[in-house]
Amino acid sequence: MAKIIVDPVTRIEGHLKLEVEVEDNVVVDAWTGGTLWRGFELILQGRDARDAEQLVQRICGVCPTSHATAGAMALDDAMGIEPPPNGRIIRNLILGSNYMHSHILHFFHLAALDYVKGPDIAPFKPRYEADYRLPADVNAQAVDIYLEALTIRRKAHEMGAIWGGKLPHVQAIVPGGVSEVPDTSKIYKFLNYLEEIQAFIDNKYVPLVKAVAEVYSDWFSIGVGCQNFLCYGGFPLEEGRDHVKKKKFWDSGVYIRGQYKEFDPGLIAEEVTYSWYEDDTGGNTPDVAVVTADAYKKGAYSWIKSPRYNGEAMEVGPLARQWVNQNPDVIALGDKAFSVMGRHFARAVETSQLAKAMKEWVLQLEPGQPVCTPHELPKKEVVGVGLCEGSRGALGHWHRISADGRTKVYNAVVPTTWNSGPRTGSGAATVRGPMEQAIIGTRVADPSNPVELVRIVRSMDPCYGCAIHVMTPNGKTLSQFAVS
Ligand code: NI
Repeated sequence: MAKIIVDPVTRIEGHLKLEVEVEDNVVVDAWTGGTLWRGFELILQGRDARDAEQLVQRICGVCPTSHATAGAMALDDAMGIEPPPNGRIIRNLILGSNYMHSHILHFFHLAALDYVKGPDIAPFKPRYEADYRLPADVNAQAVDIYLEALTIRRKAHEMGAIWGGKLPHVQAIVPGGVSEVPDTSKIYKFLNYLEEIQAFIDNKYVPLVKAVAEVYSDWFSIGVGCQNFLCYGGFPLEEGRDHVKKKKFWDSGVYIRGQYKEFDPGLIAEEVTYSWYEDDTGGNTPDVAVVTADAYKKGAYSWIKSPRYNGEAMEVGPLARQWVNQNPDVIALGDKAFSVMGRHFARAVETSQLAKAMKEWVLQLEPGQPVCTPHELPKKEVVGVGLCEGSRGALGHWHRISADGRTKVYNAVVPTTWNSGPRTGSGAATVRGPMEQAIIGTRVADPSNPVELVRIVRSMDPCYGCAIHVMTPNGKTLSQFAVS
């Protein structure tokens, strides 16, 4: 049996090692391993708990606002407070602006070159050579849009900075709400940016994804995955301290083994059987999770833990959100939604949907009204939970705070942990992670150019690197690419 190793997978964010076994060019088993340990949770221990929402933004430069949101929500929860309407809306606008940036970045600058043939110069090279099928005129247009998307991403950041102070790491999201006050000039400035970004999404991003989906229609049946979806729910539309129950732009829910169910945060647990952590975290709920590293653990192959929902692997992200919330355009795809193209389609559709909604939200702001609820930390040990939808999917922060106001345990269970965590269990009881499941069964036409595998990985929008090595099982390098 031959093995293909792609390490690291490029044009994603972060460091992923992908290893697959192939038989007659078909993948029969897969291992997705996160190869970079950050240890952020350890950095937070013992610090003033109120600094957490600033510190956790440094987990990522692409989705810091998601961490700011979850971090602030966990502090709100710990203190028993919630933002006033202006604070809730401005948090939504900051996070929504980052979605515009992140989804456009993902499709154009990470995934598009799997389908669009760029000129043979940087930044379009090096790359895997794919079966480029777009008609020449559409392909040429796509290359122009790729370049335009760079400007649009900058504008999405500028739009978010109107409320966030700056991007990517925002200052304005604080416990109890935000620190930025609304006025009419900011509202109109925001609307101007949004107008231009929305036009790009509706006239260029969505049509291009549809054009790609049409010519790559076979990719509506490749990269199926676990078909279980989890959505914590995101962008609250009303006040109320019960995050799961209150009305949100995308409501909370799960789709599990073909059934829609209510989301119960109590069913989330983490396992570390195949992760480089001491086994004392196995099966624990996230608020008591310990993150003691064990780099020499036998059988482990990832720094990512394996979150499970009632023991099940769950896919998170745009497809999960749209499927759980039964978006008619995505539901109309039927089983074809569970695929590489289904994920790209769901992501494009929700970008447009969100841009439209943000236009309404910004007009609901009331200048002169409060943006933040006064607060103080309780003088006893307390746990706060912040659940939201980051651009890449369900994001949860669990924050245990000591009676002296210091962080005792911090645990961020991020979307890529759900999608790309290693397997759990063993033998017949093995539950592979969603990305591993999506890759198994894929035909790889040329093992020295495994474009099929990276297409599946990128459809789930995880994280990046700077070189690709494709190797035989005995470690002989078949081909090597330097990637900038
Ligand atoms: Ni990230």
